[in-house]
Amino acid sequence: MNTTTKVLKPDAAGIAQAAELLQSGALVAFATETVYGLGADARNSTAVAAIYSAKGRPSFNPLIIHVADATMARRYGMWSDQAHILASAFWPGPLTLVLGLAPDHGLSSLVTAGLPSVAIRVPAHPTAAALFRAFGGPVAAPSANPSGQISPTTAQHVIAGLDGRIAAVLDDGPCTVGVESTIVSLANDVPLLLREGGIPSEALEQAIGAPLGHPDGTEITAPGQLASHYAPKGAVRLNAQAPQGNEIMLGFGPIAGDLTLSATGDLTEAATRLFDCLHRLDATGRPIAVAPVPERGLGRAINDRLRRAAAPRDR
Ligand code: TXA
Ligand code: MG
Repeated sequence: MNTTTKVLKPDAAGIAQAAELLQSGALVAFATETVYGLGADARNSTAVAAIYSAKGRPSFNPLIIHVADATMARRYGMWSDQAHILASAFWPGPLTLVLGLAPDHGLSSLVTAGLPSVAIRVPAHPTAAALFRAFGGPVAAPSANPSGQISPTTAQHVIAGLDGRIAAVLDDGPCTVGVESTIVSLANDVPLLLREGGIPSEALEQAIGAPLGHPDGTEITAPGQLASHYAPKGAVRLNAQAPQGNEIMLGFGPIAGDLTLSATGDLTEAATRLFDCLHRLDATGRPIAVAPVPERGLGRAINDRLRRAAAPRDR
């Protein structure tokens, strides 16, 4: 067990050191445009198991593998016309595709949790892409936070949650999208939206020219999606017009609050600021009231994470 976590710069030396650590089976957190990921060699079961113990994650949920480009992705997932359409339109970017496992994929079964499919993402982040190329293989990575806590959008968030439990964090400043990737499964007959995220579902539906299906409980869905997955420590109340009692207020648009997701009502800015605002408000120890956010575009992912933050805790 490490006693402290190294903070690496996003330069050639830092990237090389991070790649060597991954090759040696160590855990390295890295920036992506969505949130910081906690990476391990996806072919090394010991390394992947260490992700679960560092996060204190109770069960083996399947993990997303991260690669530099679609060519690398095709080594692990079964390609199709729809995969081609979505990858061409949105990769690199905040879209994760769940595909049937390709033959001879070589991935640890801990990554797929024994499922016949794999979740693959090509982040739009130059340092992450350089890390994956230097490492030369698939990087399994959930968000780099202790299980059940708020996702990290800065290296400081990662250190606050995981210091001493991981070898290093490649610090590349704040994440530009701020909410996790949208997850679409192409492993069934109909493309399914498994998680709202950084690419609005409207844009995906436009690209494939058909509405996305929604899991009805019979398909394999995204089992990591516990209701309270993104929970701050204190209570969270949604659709609030004003704070009550001891509450501290997270504003949006015309509702100002103690902090605001976006004073101008800009959903892109709100997504970028969401987790950092929740980290800051949670640090006050007070219950949190949140102003309404419109349910369109990136607002869908923001509201999904806010509903999870407000859900009754299942731990
Ligand atoms: O933006 C993101 O997606 C971030 C960054 C680090 O890339 N990652 C992330 O990972 O959010 P995580 O572990 O927090 O969420 C991964 C989700 C889980 O809900 C998991 O159940 C689902 O992906 N998943 C992974 N493999 C799957 C599969 N084969 N079938 C269905 N769902 C899968
Ligand atoms: Mg997560």
